[in-house]
Amino acid sequence: MNFTRTTLACALALGTTFAGAQTTAKLKVGLMLPATGTFASLGTAIENGFRLHIAEQGGKLAGREIEFFKVDDESDPSKAVDNATKLVSRDKVDVLVGTVHSGVAMAMAKVAKDTGTMLIVPNAGADAVTGAMCAPHIFRSSFSNWQPGYAMGEVMAKRGHKNVVTITWKYAAGDESVRGFREAFEKGGGKVVKELALPFPNVEFQALLTEIAAARPDAVYTFFAGGGAVKFVKDYAGAGLRGKIPLYGAGFLTDGTLEAQGADAQGMFTTLHYADSLNTARDNAFRLAYAKAYKLQPDVYAVQGYDAAQMLSVGLAAVKGDIGKKAEFAAALRKAKIDSPRGPFTISNSHNPVQDIYLREVGGKENKSIGIASKALADPGRGCRM
Ligand code: PHB
Repeated sequence: MNFTRTTLACALALGTTFAGAQTTAKLKVGLMLPATGTFASLGTAIENGFRLHIAEQGGKLAGREIEFFKVDDESDPSKAVDNATKLVSRDKVDVLVGTVHSGVAMAMAKVAKDTGTMLIVPNAGADAVTGAMCAPHIFRSSFSNWQPGYAMGEVMAKRGHKNVVTITWKYAAGDESVRGFREAFEKGGGKVVKELALPFPNVEFQALLTEIAAARPDAVYTFFAGGGAVKFVKDYAGAGLRGKIPLYGAGFLTDGTLEAQGADAQGMFTTLHYADSLNTARDNAFRLAYAKAYKLQPDVYAVQGYDAAQMLSVGLAAVKGDIGKKAEFAAALRKAKIDSPRGPFTISNSHNPVQDIYLREVGGKENKSIGIASKALADPGRGCRM
């Protein structure tokens, strides 16, 4: 076999053809999401959304079929480096997609940086992922923890609240959500009089609810999500605080949870980059397709999974399926407008969505948008040098 034929054979074996032509081998996607624990249902919604976009493209992105490799990350940061390394080194995935928990996502970002693997984060808001840890091949389709917190700080200051207690889980997501809230709320003239927290994923809220009752603030700001959010909202009402001290939160508090929270969540205000009643052609089509495919209503997590796949589509199309062309992949995304069910968004220089944050009110089983709290809100991307 002469040189040309050998090279051609190798190229075909790799599924690649020459000089800017299409890459055709299967694209290996490493899905690292929680399948167990307090965030399990969030992981399912993200995967459903991700697969829905691919199905809508006929099962291929930029001409490449998709092969999935999955791990249950259990929302456990102590196992995260091992789990991500397995996907990269053993399964040789082309792209990592994950996860929900901020601590786990930071470990994934470290593995992505160390190995040069593409990473798209479909939920976890860890500010560092698009801040100090930012990289040309790391992207987020969701939000930074700062974003909904900051928007709610403005809302609550404008609503005339002065003294607020915050309560959350003690880890990056809770800390950063409260920090974003505090930044805007204190700028608007309010004061955070007490910050309460308990370790993730504990749900023994009683002692802290007693502290809130004793502090008698004007209002409470909180970050909880998944199973923990369901229990917190029910316990808040059970402790007799509902109707006495208004409870606000980053929208995760009531997203994907309303069925279980029932009457105890009615009338609550939250801020988030998605709502159930946007009633745009784009969102209506998405909701219908999702409901048909999964016999479930979508939530913010489903949207973020769907948009992670859309971002992968945009980047891959620009490099004709050759995901190794990281600079061109990134350049395409930085120019793109992602046609999301949440409304179109762009991607900042640190690779986080620049997006509208809605003010939502719970009515029945919906988080109804009652307006835009913050238009085209961009995370400050503090510490990012690319
Ligand atoms: C996070 O850990 O960043 C996190 C988890 C659940 C959410 C939102 C953020 O719903």
